Amino acid sequence: MRMAKSETPLLDELEKGPWPSFVKDIKRVAERKPMAKDLLRQLELSYKDKIGHWKHGGIVGVTGYGGGVIGRYSDRPDLFPNVAHFHTMRINHPSGWFYTTKALRTICDIWDRHGSGLTNMHGSTGDIILLGTFTEHLQPCFDELSEAGFDLGGSGSALRTPSACVGPARCEWACYDTLDACNDVTHEFQDYLHRPMWPYKFKIKFSGCPNDCVAAIARSDLAVIGTWRDKIRVDQAAVQAYVAGEISPAAGGGGKKAKFDIQKDVIELCPTRCMEWNGKKLTIYNDDCTRCMHCINVMPEALRPGKDTGVTILVGGKAPILEGALMSWVLIPFMKFESPYQEFKDLAEKIWEWWDENGKMRERLGEVIERMSMRKFLDAMGLPAVPQMVKTPRYNPYIFF
Ligand code: HEM
Ligand code: HEM
Ligand code: SF4
Ligand code: SF4
Repeated sequence: MRMAKSETPLLDELEKGPWPSFVKDIKRVAERKPMAKDLLRQLELSYKDKIGHWKHGGIVGVTGYGGGVIGRYSDRPDLFPNVAHFHTMRINHPSGWFYTTKALRTICDIWDRHGSGLTNMHGSTGDIILLGTFTEHLQPCFDELSEAGFDLGGSGSALRTPSACVGPARCEWACYDTLDACNDVTHEFQDYLHRPMWPYKFKIKFSGCPNDCVAAIARSDLAVIGTWRDKIRVDQAAVQAYVAGEISPAAGGGGKKAKFDIQKDVIELCPTRCMEWNGKKLTIYNDDCTRCMHCINVMPEALRPGKDTGVTILVGGKAPILEGALMSWVLIPFMKFESPYQEFKDLAEKIWEWWDENGKMRERLGEVIERMSMRKFLDAMGLPAVPQMVKTPRYNPYIFF
């Protein structure tokens, strides 16, 4: 018997090979969803024509919300009527991305009724991404999601859905409760999430320690990164055990590493060279430690963050759009960070006021600080310049500040 000829020969190529294939996934959904089917057919045409067949933009939304829905339309609705609209909904994820299976089923059932059935868990923002629906489905879909206890996330020139590393739920290095902080701050600033009113987007991300698992330092305008201000806790007996090869370094990460050399693998890789090993005892000169986590990551059974914990607050991280990518830099070297996080919330409001006042259209906080200078920003914040704020080492000895 002759097989029916595939409608998507170019896409079918992407099913070959050892890697997971989005074509395979979408085809599965296409068996029950005409939207997914037209999505594939339109993409096939794009590959053939070597041009995208989506129109960009357009304002769509639900009552009372300015953000959370990203409008998309096909430029060939005549050929692909089922993806004439293909709007994406961002749904605010729970802190640390913990769900019950019941909650997941609830979301999926709602999305099966109202959208393409395709999801992206999770988007680069952290949100649950529901891919592709029609304008007339937005409101009923949102209503059902609200009924089930879910809320839209941020999009456009609004506060984006804050996100946090898994923190104390699963990680012994958490220097504060990232999950509670993220949840609390999200609730506090709901209005800013739902009503775009700023020059551009604004992201807050919470990492429990300087390992920075949510990449707050690179991706958020306001990064909250756990740290400590006392000493790294050292278990000398466990250090000996690492040296004797009784414990695998880096908790066994990196495969079967035959030999652990404390001098080479730890002492010499300490960025500030503030550690010493005399064959018996590990000494750390904590005043010079920058809390980079390297030694702790390599010898987790022997070393732990200190007990007097808090956060470092950094500002200005972003990906390239107007200007190039920026890493954030230190605004507050150390802040105690406990519920209800009032000092942090006041700081955020102050930052927004300055940014809103001074930012041009589509300028992120970091870009405004670069354009107007850190000095002006610090003046407005009422903060003194401190050495921790130095962004790059001085490359010219004649620059004074
Ligand atoms: C030249 C064409 C395009 C450019 C320059 C572009 C640029 C961008 C940018 C800058 C964002 C991030 C926006 C923000 O978070 O503020 C974004 C997000 C997004 N874009 Fe596009 N885009 C293009 C085409 C498309 C097309 C054709 C589609 C779909 C048909 C699409 C779907 C999306 C979606 C769903 C998001 C949100 C992703 C998320 O939640 O993280 N884009 N795009
Ligand atoms: C060969 C095909 C594709 C490749 C290589 C690709 C690759 C990627 C990559 C690398 C990201 C960034 C992920 C992240 O940083 O979290 C991304 C995001 C995304 N992709 Fe694709 N993609 C493909 C096809 C598609 C299709 C067909 C759709 C829609 C039906 C889609 C929708 C999205 C959306 C909405 C996002 C942003 C979601 C988010 O991370 O917030 N992609 N894609
Ligand atoms: S950032 Fe630190 S506390 Fe958070 S999950 Fe990663 S290692 Fe653990
Ligand atoms: S945390 Fe980093 S800077 Fe501090 S002692 Fe360990 S390796 Fe050195």
